[in-house]
Amino acid sequence: MPAEIISGKDVAKAIRAELKEEVAELKEKHGIVPGLATVLVGEDPASISYVTAKNKTCKDLGMNSKQHTLPADTSEEDLLKLVDELNNDDAVNGILVQLPLPKHIDEAKVLYAIDPDKDVDGFHPVNVGRLVIGEERFPPCTPAGIQELIVRSGTPTEGAEVVVVGRSNIVGKPISIMLLQKKAGANATVTVCHTRTKNIAEHTKRADILIVAAGFPKAVTAEMVKPGATVIDVGVNRVGEKPSKKDPNKMVAILEGDVDFEAVKEVAAKITPVPGGVGPMTITMLLKNTVKAAKLKL
Ligand code: GUN
Repeated sequence: MPAEIISGKDVAKAIRAELKEEVAELKEKHGIVPGLATVLVGEDPASISYVTAKNKTCKDLGMNSKQHTLPADTSEEDLLKLVDELNNDDAVNGILVQLPLPKHIDEAKVLYAIDPDKDVDGFHPVNVGRLVIGEERFPPCTPAGIQELIVRSGTPTEGAEVVVVGRSNIVGKPISIMLLQKKAGANATVTVCHTRTKNIAEHTKRADILIVAAGFPKAVTAEMVKPGATVIDVGVNRVGEKPSKKDPNKMVAILEGDVDFEAVKEVAAKITPVPGGVGPMTITMLLKNTVKAAKLKL
């Protein structure tokens, strides 16, 4: 029987409805409107579309958002100055500097300059440290979205064998730490595979929950998956272009994940699609962190 499709779109919609109520209540009871500041440096098309979507979703939920767009040749000093201004702006609860930054800017220096209490991406070392010791404040958005998808799809995590493919700071490392915590929605036995792992399939075939953030299409094929597993595909690969459904004169990217979806859905019990899986969750968790940041002030 083909796998049940875990719709990130539907789960994101449910969480956004919850957040909208929370935002309305904050406004009514405390006169607070959570505010997100996004910072975009340069004109990378993928980054522009992500930042635009983040700002739009904020507004949809009744939150404030302001996009700061800077030219690609902005100096590190000017960017740090803007971050400092946003750190000191009481109307700004969350700050998001879209990555990647142009090569002449030290990414770490900029991320570390963000006030940890406004770091809704969860990338500041203070927040990474909090996450590791089980006292998370702002869980990084993509891993937080993955955990929600696992839990809300009814996949048990307690004692489960979780295998993560990929060890990035944004996805692989944090999700592995989040799922091994002694907490509800976690308590798993976690293995992390990477480019130097000797036999990846040997590990993935044991996984009750397989999380794939490898960075290339078809990194996981059907033979690598245990029958009945839950498979979460974090990959977004632009494999071509097609005419847009809304406007056939416009071309849009054809997206594919890191999992061979058509073959793996015949083996797995549950699987996320690309697009419409992890993607919509990432923005939703960013907004959840922004609401949380606003609540720190209560
Ligand atoms: N670029 C790709 N993913 C992300 C993310 O989660 N946050 C930021 N700031 N930039 C990104």
